Amino acid sequence: MQKTVAIGSLTLDNRVFLAPMAGITNLPMRLMARECGAALTFTEMVSVNGLTREGRKSFDLLKSVPADRPIGMQLFGDDAGMLAEAARLVEGYGELIDINMGCPVRKVVGTGAGSALLKEPLKVAGIIRSVRAATRLPFTVKIRTGWVCGDDSFLEIGRIAQEEGCDAVTLHPRSRAQMFDGKADWSRIAQLKGALRIPVIGSGDLFTAADVPLMLEQTGCDAVMIARGAMGNPWIFREALALLAGAAPGAPTPAERCAAARRHLELFSELEGERTALLEMRKHLSWYSKGLPGAAGFRAAVNAIEDPAGLVGAMESFFHG
Ligand SMILES: Cc1cc2nc3c(=O)[nH]c(=O)nc-3n(C[C@H](O)[C@H](O)[C@H](O)COP(=O)(O)O)c2cc1C
Repeated sequence: MQKTVAIGSLTLDNRVFLAPMAGITNLPMRLMARECGAALTFTEMVSVNGLTREGRKSFDLLKSVPADRPIGMQLFGDDAGMLAEAARLVEGYGELIDINMGCPVRKVVGTGAGSALLKEPLKVAGIIRSVRAATRLPFTVKIRTGWVCGDDSFLEIGRIAQEEGCDAVTLHPRSRAQMFDGKADWSRIAQLKGALRIPVIGSGDLFTAADVPLMLEQTGCDAVMIARGAMGNPWIFREALALLAGAAPGAPTPAERCAAARRHLELFSELEGERTALLEMRKHLSWYSKGLPGAAGFRAAVNAIEDPAGLVGAMESFFHG
C-alpha cells in the first residue's frame, strides 16, 4: 500500500512523480512513466505568451489522454495578468497548474521568467495572487534555491507561495548560477519543509530508485519528482514504489528493456506519427541503451535507420543479442 499525498483538492496515489522536462516529457514519455507507476506527470513548460495568443504549438504541448491524468500543466512567464489569463485558458486541459520559477536558461531568464523571478519576491507575490484568483485548480510553483549560491531566496519565496494560496512548492535545491553543476543540496529541501505547512516536493539528483526513499527520509518532503533518472529508465518509478512498499525490486531484464523501448516507439508512432517517432526515438534509445555493452554501435546504427521495421529489428537484436 502506497502513501498518498494531497495537493489542494487533488489526491495522488503515491509520492513519486515525473518532473517537467522541456523537449522531453511529451505525451509518450509521460505514458511510459505512468505505466511504471508515476502518480503525477507534468507537461513541458508552456509559454504564457504562446497560450494567450492562442498559439497552436503552445496548446499542442498540453495534449493529453485519459491514461495520462491527473496531469500538471507547467506555465512560464513573468507577467501576473498573462499568467492568470493563461491559467484560465488551460483550465480544461489538466488537473493542476504549476508555474516555473526555476528554469535557469538564458532565453527564459532574459524575459524575466523562470529563476529570474527568485530575485523579485514582490512580483512573485503578485503573480501568485493573480493566478490564485483566476483558477480553482490545485496550484504549485517550482523553484530553485536562489539566483546565486548561498542565496536563500527559496525560503522567502516558499513562504510567499504559501501565504498567497499555493497548494504545494517544489524545490530543486541548486541555485540558478549552478545550472546543473555540483550536487543538489537536499538539506535545503528539509529546511523548506520545516518552514512551510503546505506540501513540499523534492527534486534533484534522483538517479536511482534507492535515491527516492532516501530523499523522502532525509528531507521529510511530501513527494518527489524524478527528471533525468527517468530518461530511458521508466522502471525507476516501479522500482522506487517497490522500495517504498518494503519490497526488493528486480532490475529490468533484457526482454523488459526491449519491450519498453518497443512500447515507447509504438506510443510515439500512434500519437505523433512514424517520422517523428523515428527521429525522437533516436534520443530515447541512446538513453535506453546507456551503459549496456555495444551501446555506441547501437546508437550509430539507430541514427542511420529510416523505417520503423528496421528500428524494431535493431532493438530486438541489441537488447536480446
Ligand atoms: C533537459 C531538461 C529539461 C528540463 N526542463 C524543465 C522544465 O521545463 N521545467 C522545470 O520546472 N524544470 C525543468 N527541468 C528541471 C527538472 O524538472 C528537475 O528539477 C532537475 O533536472 C533536477 O532533477 P533531476 O536531478 O532528477 O534531473 C529540466 C531538466 C532537464 C535535465
